[in-house]
Amino acid sequence: MLKDKENNGVIYFDNAATSFPKPQCVTNAVVHYITQIGANPGRSGHKMAIEAGQIVYKTRKSIATLFKLKNPMHVIFTSNATEALNTAIKGVLKKGDHAVTSDMEHNSTIRPLHEMEKEGTISLSMIQADKIGILNPEKIRKAVTRKTKAVIINHASNVIGCIQPIKKIGKICKENGVIFIVDCAQSVGVVPIDIGRDNIDILAFAGHKGLYGPTGTGGMVIADGFDFKKIEPLKYGGTGSFSDKIEQPDFLPDRFESGTLNVAGLSGLLAGSEYIQKRKGGIEGILKFKTELQKYFIQQAEMFVPDFICYSASHLPSTDVVAFRINKFPISEIAQILSDKYGIMCRQGLHCSPLAHQTIGTFPEGTLRFGFSIFNKKEEIDFAVQALKSISEGRKK
Ligand SMILES: Cc1ncc(COP(=O)(O)O)c(C=O)c1O
Repeated sequence: MLKDKENNGVIYFDNAATSFPKPQCVTNAVVHYITQIGANPGRSGHKMAIEAGQIVYKTRKSIATLFKLKNPMHVIFTSNATEALNTAIKGVLKKGDHAVTSDMEHNSTIRPLHEMEKEGTISLSMIQADKIGILNPEKIRKAVTRKTKAVIINHASNVIGCIQPIKKIGKICKENGVIFIVDCAQSVGVVPIDIGRDNIDILAFAGHKGLYGPTGTGGMVIADGFDFKKIEPLKYGGTGSFSDKIEQPDFLPDRFESGTLNVAGLSGLLAGSEYIQKRKGGIEGILKFKTELQKYFIQQAEMFVPDFICYSASHLPSTDVVAFRINKFPISEIAQILSDKYGIMCRQGLHCSPLAHQTIGTFPEGTLRFGFSIFNKKEEIDFAVQALKSISEGRKK
């Protein structure tokens, strides 16, 4: 086994689910908050509460910078990308509205939309991607009607890593007065995103994947000029502001941030977000590094692993995610051997995206998935390729 003490003795390729390891500064920041600050931000007026509030504000600023957003108050913290997507989808869509989405979406988009369609609140058009997961913006243009309120699309696929032409789709939305909601769970910290340039109205991000924050972090970001009153809150409750009123505050971020924030998590998220933004080469450099790992793995596996089938197209705009199989070999068995015998962590199955697997032809079994991080090395990939080679050859004997 390729032992790396810092990584708990494992090779971790499950970064598309959540990243591991986290940079040391993330751990330090969480420990610092828990042991030295601890207080609830925006509630009391004592110095510990003020310090906690400063951490939250700095995190907002760092996330705003990441998305080239001018007003940090338009960054709303949630417990994950799912909560952000539910807030945006359920907050924007009302009785009689029409929405457009695609078959490449994660269940965090599909399920709330499906539920709203089933209960008769909205009508829904599902755009089909091509066999390699890419959406044709013109299909979206054709699906838009006078009743269309929102288009909801993911930026980068959690199944195969392909990157959608969001700028073009956003332009179509702008031309038609439709709200453009983008799921950036997989692309944040991996693909440069400019909320204005990319014509995004609302985006959802995960804090625990490409930003290297702790689990339980994420958020919804509202474009600078967007009228946030078009979004109804999902949650109502205490915000620490206007405690004399029983109405929910109508300003940002309080309109959407009821209840005590995950300040320990946000402390780590701040450290993670600063860490990647200060990294040499910035997000462009991260994308280059990670896609090189993706290409390298695909190339080596195609060369050495018998019956290797790859579903990710590394020649197209893509993240670090690779979906693959060994022909006719049950994926759960492979994942088990990788974990138990070789200490390689990956994910197998449908990755909460059954429709995407139907599109690429891998439903109902799904695929194995590797997702690389900035901490992975080529030698880990070499080791994994050798492991897969042995597994594939072992079956043939
Ligand atoms: C594309 C996509 N959207 C949404 C989510 C949900 O993210 P979270 O687990 O932070 O709710 C994921 C998680 O894997 C994802 O890959």
